[in-house]
Amino acid sequence: MSGSNPTNRIFSGVQPTGGLHLGNYLGAIRNWVRLQKDYECIFCVVDMHAITVWQDPVALRKATHEVAAAYIACGIDPEENILFHQSANPNHAELAWIFNCVARMGWLNRMTQFKDKAGKNRENASTGLFVYPNLMAADILAYKATHVPVGEDQKQHLELTRDIATKFNNDFGAEDFFPLPEPVIQKEAARIMSLRDGAKKMSKSDPSEYSRLIMTDGPDEIAQKLRKAKTDPEPLPSEMDGLEDRPEARNLVSIYAALQDIDDATALSRVAGKQFKDFKEELTDVAVTKLGPIGDEMKRLMAAPDHIEAILHKGGERAREISEPILRDVYDIVGFVGR
Ligand code: TRP
Repeated sequence: MSGSNPTNRIFSGVQPTGGLHLGNYLGAIRNWVRLQKDYECIFCVVDMHAITVWQDPVALRKATHEVAAAYIACGIDPEENILFHQSANPNHAELAWIFNCVARMGWLNRMTQFKDKAGKNRENASTGLFVYPNLMAADILAYKATHVPVGEDQKQHLELTRDIATKFNNDFGAEDFFPLPEPVIQKEAARIMSLRDGAKKMSKSDPSEYSRLIMTDGPDEIAQKLRKAKTDPEPLPSEMDGLEDRPEARNLVSIYAALQDIDDATALSRVAGKQFKDFKEELTDVAVTKLGPIGDEMKRLMAAPDHIEAILHKGGERAREISEPILRDVYDIVGFVGR
């Protein structure tokens, strides 16, 4: 058996869906940048998960470039960390097959994301969508990752990963072979809402482009979208209590705070009493200063897709160097004659 288990290895995945927005940045990517100093980080663009629902091939490749560019532009160093696309390392699919034989139908039937995504037309959902969580477990356990930063919506999948690890270890009498990965819950992760409706999460699938700031928006688009952002007639209050029942105002204050890395109450104290017209101008300045350089860098990187692909392929090789010995052990444990 190959060596001792790691103690602080992070695996995290993002689907290449394109149109990354402010919610993705403030709620997720920005926080991973902070993890790189405390953990050995493996960041993966999960293209194999993406195809569990139909993806146009040209758009998929472009979205893969875009997510990789976003990671780098936001400050993830692809030399310090590993950054790659899932399909570059066949170990994910290989381990996922074994997990298809470990996980139980009953477990997967309970997954709320499958129910939401398959909707009423279950019969027409891809079988990949059903076993999606097994592939996610393989992503994490192929590296014996110990920590996984997850949002609320992925907690159930991480629980399932732990169940799969436990059953594998028990079934094969391989005590402690797979570690049970822990969630990394991000306290500071901002929950960013739509600019048109403070009760809805900012989302790429909202039909209104004015509902979100896209990471590649320029100063004019940022200014225009914020000018049109929904508000109410009252000036900003001086205390957080005054934002209750004012979801749009609250959201803009949260965005203003998160972009400057300060808490909401401190942010509010800087703009208390202002009319929205003035506050929005200030918010636009902050947003342009913070997002402008990231968007520019993303565009620069995306203009050179060969360079991005070279980074991803190199990352894929480094990823495989870690997972290959683990897969070899798994094959041995399962009783395959070997690789
Ligand atoms: N399912 C995750 C999502 O949609 C993406 C993902 C795939 C992931 N594999 C992962 C996240 C492994 C964390 C760890 O957001």
